[in-house]
Amino acid sequence: HHCFSKSEDGYLYCEGLRVDEIMESVEKRPFYLYSKPQITRNVEAYKNALEGLTSIIGYAIKANNNYKILEHLKNLGCGAVLVSGNELKLALRAGFDPTRCIFNGNGKILEDLVLAAEAGVFVNIDSEFDLENIVAAARIAGKRVNVLLRINPDVDPQVHPYVATGNKNSKFGIRNEKLQWFLDAVKEHPVELKLVGAHCHLGSTITKVDIFRDAATIMVNYIDEIRAQGFEIDYLNIGGGLGIDYYHAGAILPKPRDLIDTVRELVLSRGLKLIIEPGRSLIANTCCLVNRVTGVKTNGSKNFIVIDGSMAELIRPSLYDAYQHIELVSPAPANAEIATFDVVGPVCESADFLGKGRELPTPAKGTGLVVHDAGAYCMSMASTYNLKMRPPEYWVEDDGSLSKIRHGETFEDHIRFFEGL
Ligand code: LLP
Repeated sequence: HHCFSKSEDGYLYCEGLRVDEIMESVEKRPFYLYSKPQITRNVEAYKNALEGLTSIIGYAIKANNNYKILEHLKNLGCGAVLVSGNELKLALRAGFDPTRCIFNGNGKILEDLVLAAEAGVFVNIDSEFDLENIVAAARIAGKRVNVLLRINPDVDPQVHPYVATGNKNSKFGIRNEKLQWFLDAVKEHPVELKLVGAHCHLGSTITKVDIFRDAATIMVNYIDEIRAQGFEIDYLNIGGGLGIDYYHAGAILPKPRDLIDTVRELVLSRGLKLIIEPGRSLIANTCCLVNRVTGVKTNGSKNFIVIDGSMAELIRPSLYDAYQHIELVSPAPANAEIATFDVVGPVCESADFLGKGRELPTPAKGTGLVVHDAGAYCMSMASTYNLKMRPPEYWVEDDGSLSKIRHGETFEDHIRFFEGL
């Protein structure tokens, strides 16, 4: 059962609520619409897959930092994966258990590392200078930091180059030829650092689980090598990156269970605890961006549906040429002509599209149009370009009612940045 479904008479529902009726009941502007029960179901899929292993599900907050969603994920037992001091502060405020949180990143600054050391979260070592900063932070905080080595295993994730991170020429992690340097450096700082594991993250939108198995095999070999030098490490962190079915065309893609099953034996064979860092596969399919059709036009050989949402609210198509499925929320009139459209926003550039070459019935002005799978890297990457203020967010609760879970940004919010200057 998935939260968004079309009824036989052509209306889109989110759980039990008709999306066109929701549109009538809320502010007239683009908004994000989530299903809380779908978030729960996605977490359950990981929990069930992980049965029999000692594990941490570290939700990657960068995918979606809505506070109500974070509280819900925390209540479901998730930890958190953080890439900035602000994400760390938010995770702590939302009540995540620091011993289930991991601070990642290739450019962590000293101030943020001090917060991490004080809070007692795991910290991934990404480079020589990062190790120096972690040592300095440990001294300032007066705490020993549990660290993992972020190893760059040089595995090709077979994804868009902008979301590949585990190849040898990427800016992330450390390469094998330097491993010994890092082990020696950790040994020199027994008061500040406790090495507890090894981490890798290959990239995002990965749709073949063999890629994870290849990486886990490489990582387990490193762990053997590290243990052989007397380090008692128990965590293997295989990062995030599992893709989802953006196309809605009936493809069978790997599920959390397939991912965990490919690494299970390896993890058990070494008595390891497994950390995973899912973002997209936990949250993307729980949400749509809901827009209104402003009008339809034709230029040259192109037909356009112009909507009120844009690349400011949702940038993945513009930035990565990403496909996100688009549909109308209500049935088209019987005489509506079916045509091929580019779905575009009102922003002043040609990169402003949500979808290209989509076959759709010609919609009337005011019709609702949704962009699916908008729960991950959409609101969290929204901007205020053209002063399109960031949209409000709603979810359907467990009891089927609708609640606002984030206020929409307003013009007044923008003016406030200049008050008193
Ligand atoms: N762990 C680390 C160290 C990461 O860098 C990331 C994502 C994750 C976990 C979570 O990966 P996920 O399970 O969500 O694939 N903005 C891009 C995605 C960038 C991903 C960055 N790192 C997009 O919209 O497709």
